[in-house]
Amino acid sequence: MTILVTGAAGFIGAFVARALLERGERVIGLDNLDSYYDPALKRHRLEMLEAHGDFRFVRADIADFAGMVETLGGEREAVRVVVHLAAQAGVRHSLENPFAYARSNLLGHLAILELCRHRLPRLERLVYASSSSVYGANTEVPFAEDQRVDRPVSLYAATKRADELMSETYARLYGIPQIGLRFFTVYGPMGRPDMAYFAFADAIVEGRPIRLFNHGRMRRDFTWIEDVVAGVLAAADHRPAREDGVPHRIFNLGNHRPVELLTFVHLLERAIGREAVKEFAPMQPGDVVETCADITAARRELGFAPTTPLEEGLPRFVAWHRRWRGW
Ligand SMILES: NC(=O)c1ccc[n+]([C@@H]2O[C@H](COP(=O)([O-])OP(=O)(O)OC[C@H]3O[C@@H](n4cnc5c(N)ncnc54)[C@H](O)[C@@H]3O)[C@@H](O)[C@H]2O)c1
Repeated sequence: MTILVTGAAGFIGAFVARALLERGERVIGLDNLDSYYDPALKRHRLEMLEAHGDFRFVRADIADFAGMVETLGGEREAVRVVVHLAAQAGVRHSLENPFAYARSNLLGHLAILELCRHRLPRLERLVYASSSSVYGANTEVPFAEDQRVDRPVSLYAATKRADELMSETYARLYGIPQIGLRFFTVYGPMGRPDMAYFAFADAIVEGRPIRLFNHGRMRRDFTWIEDVVAGVLAAADHRPAREDGVPHRIFNLGNHRPVELLTFVHLLERAIGREAVKEFAPMQPGDVVETCADITAARRELGFAPTTPLEEGLPRFVAWHRRWRGW
């Protein structure tokens, strides 16, 4: 089966594409290789994928609908599933660069919906990335899919919630089967250098101080990349059904075991073998104090069962970080 993976040069996209290739699918990987973070890392991930004969890379911008359709060309005819992971990610960057989010996450998501509606004749379903950040100012943990999600604390979160609403509309109006996945702090080798676990590792290795916001009193539901990939693949195989007949479902994909920021730093120090220089700082705009996923629905319907604790995953990330950074 042919599967289109957008954001395939990105962290989660590359792992998803690799897992699909390993189970025998044909993958078209689409990405614009933007420079939000080091494009060398994106090229490194693509090299891994290009080692598989059934992988084809397409460089295109999802926000440019006509250009994307043209670049995809006749490949469109075979696509049965779209896994849409391309986005402008990162909460903090959305404070400084809001238009990048409107472009890739609003216009880009709409363009993917239009692609599915008009240009993919054999499409069976669309799986797309949302985020735990949609829970915003909610304080009731764990976060469950049926909680209110109209109190975003960053523009990033607002665009991800808007994606869910656009998808709901397209499922209702045009019957496009869709599954939205709310990811919770995904980490692992070849990860995103802008995320705390990676940026902290860089700082610890270089002897630079790390800043612990909200004086370290934060909790995050860190989710190991391979656990997330299993959930994404299960979603790609799943027929979204709802009592009202609208073929759209949203699932949390998190580890369901939040970890204190200071515990996380301690585990990182242990894996690296050096102590961090810690600076305690107040809460940052856009941040939330705690994330924790209620994964009852994903467990029941997708068989989602994360098994990797941070104690196991972080040393694996650090082993890769050592090779990548050469320390
Ligand atoms: N990593 C996490 O913890 C996390 C958490 C919640 C949600 N998400 C979401 O999961 C998805 C994947 O995240 P990731 O961590 O792999 O991020 P990533 O930045 O590594 O991957 C996204 C990829 O999309 C590409 N891209 C961005 N804008 C594009 C455009 N306009 N056209 C084509 N390609 C474009 C980028 O070049 C990048 O390779 C994103 O939608 C993100 O918002 C990630």
